[in-house]
Amino acid sequence: MNASTSNAGLCATTVQPLLTPVQVGPYRLRNRIVMAPLTRMRAGAGGIPQSMNALYYGQRASAGLVIAEATPICAGAMGYIHQPGIFNEAQVEGWKRVTEAVQAEGGTIFLQLFHPGRMSHPLLLNGQLPVAPSVLASGESSPTAAGMQPHPLPRALATEEIAGIVANYARAARLAGAAGFDGVEIHAANSYLIEQFLHDGSNRRTHYYGDSIANRTRFLIEVIEAVIEVWGAERVGVRLSPSNTRGGMGDSDRWALYAHVVSELNARQPAYIHLVEPRVSGNFDVEPEFDLGAGRFRPLVTGQTKLISAGGHSQMSGNRIIEKGEADLVAFGRSFLANPDLPRRFALDAPLNDYDRPTFYGGTEKGYIDYPFLSDAPHLEGST
Ligand SMILES: Cc1cc2nc3c(=O)[nH]c(=O)nc-3n(C[C@H](O)[C@H](O)[C@H](O)COP(=O)(O)O)c2cc1C
Repeated sequence: MNASTSNAGLCATTVQPLLTPVQVGPYRLRNRIVMAPLTRMRAGAGGIPQSMNALYYGQRASAGLVIAEATPICAGAMGYIHQPGIFNEAQVEGWKRVTEAVQAEGGTIFLQLFHPGRMSHPLLLNGQLPVAPSVLASGESSPTAAGMQPHPLPRALATEEIAGIVANYARAARLAGAAGFDGVEIHAANSYLIEQFLHDGSNRRTHYYGDSIANRTRFLIEVIEAVIEVWGAERVGVRLSPSNTRGGMGDSDRWALYAHVVSELNARQPAYIHLVEPRVSGNFDVEPEFDLGAGRFRPLVTGQTKLISAGGHSQMSGNRIIEKGEADLVAFGRSFLANPDLPRRFALDAPLNDYDRPTFYGGTEKGYIDYPFLSDAPHLEGST
C-alpha cells in the first residue's frame, strides 16, 4: 500500500510529511515511519526466531523501515529471557524467515545489535557475572527463568577483553547479513553496555576507555568501525538516548558528551543517527529535564546521514517534526506494536488500537500477532 492509493478517501490536499518517501543509505523508503526496536521476549529455545516472530514482523512491513528488536551479539550478551540471538547458524536460519516475511511485502528491515553490559543477571549468562566499564550497580532487575532478578554488581572489563567484544559485534553484523537483513543498528542507548561506557556516571575508568569524553566514546567508535567494515557505512545506523536516566545512568555534561558523539558518528556518515527524545525518560506532560531533543542535534547531522526521532510521538508530532526539518524520519514504538498497519491508519486519519501493556514482554500470540488491521474493522475505514 503506498501513500497515494491509501489517501484516496481523504479530503486533505497535502500529503503528510510522514508519508513521503526518503532515501536512507541505498534504500528508497516508501515513507518516513519507522517501527522502533521493540523487545518482545518471544523467541524460541536457543534464541531462535520462530514463524510467529516472522508473522509479527511481516504484519508491520509497511513501515518505511522496520528495526528488529535488541538482539544479543553473543551468549554473554543476554539481557532478557526469550530474546532472539545473532551469534549462531540456527539463529541465522530463524531470522531468515523474518527478513523474508518483511521483504516479501516490499519492506526494509535492520537488526538492532545489543549488549546489556551490567543490565543482566548470571541466570541469563550461564552463571557468569554481567560485565561493565566499572563496578557500579544499575539498581535494576532483569526477567529470567526464575522471574525478575535484581542485577548483581558487574565485573569490570579488562582493557584486553574489549577487543573481543568488538569482534563479537563484527561477527553479529556478518551473521545479520547472512540472515538477509538490509542493515544493522548499533544499540548505544537505554542504559546498556555502550551507553555505560559513554556516561561518566557509569564509567570510572581512568585511561583509554575512560576519563575524557574522547576516551569514553572510544568503545562506540571501535564498534561502529568494525560494523562499517562488514556493512559499509550506508547500511549502519546508531541509536542514542542522550537524556536517559534509567538504570543509574547519568553524565556530568550531557551536551558536551553527545555533541562529541554525534559529530564523531556523523564524520563516519552512517545511514542514520536515531535519537530517543527526552520526554520518554519521564512524564510526557512535564517539561523534559534535558534540552537534548533531535532539534538540538540537527545541525550536527549532515551529508547523507539521516536523523530519526523516537519517543512519545503521535501522528501529529511526527508530521510536525519532519515539517520543521528537525528529523528526517520518526520511529513509533508502542503505537506500531498495537497497530500493524500504522502507516495506513495515518494515511486515512483512522483511529488507533490501544496497546496492551501486560502482553508487551513475553507470552504467546496474544498481544503479539492478534492486533487488528483496519480491514478487520471496516467501519473505521476513512473515518476522520
Ligand atoms: C515493549 C517495549 C520494548 C522495547 N524494546 C526496545 C529495544 O529492544 N531496543 C530499543 O532501543 N528500545 C526499545 N524500546 C523503546 C522503544 O524503541 C521506544 O523508544 C519507546 O517505546 C518510546 O517510543 P514510543 O513512545 O513511540 O513507544 C522498547 C519499548 C517498549 C514499549
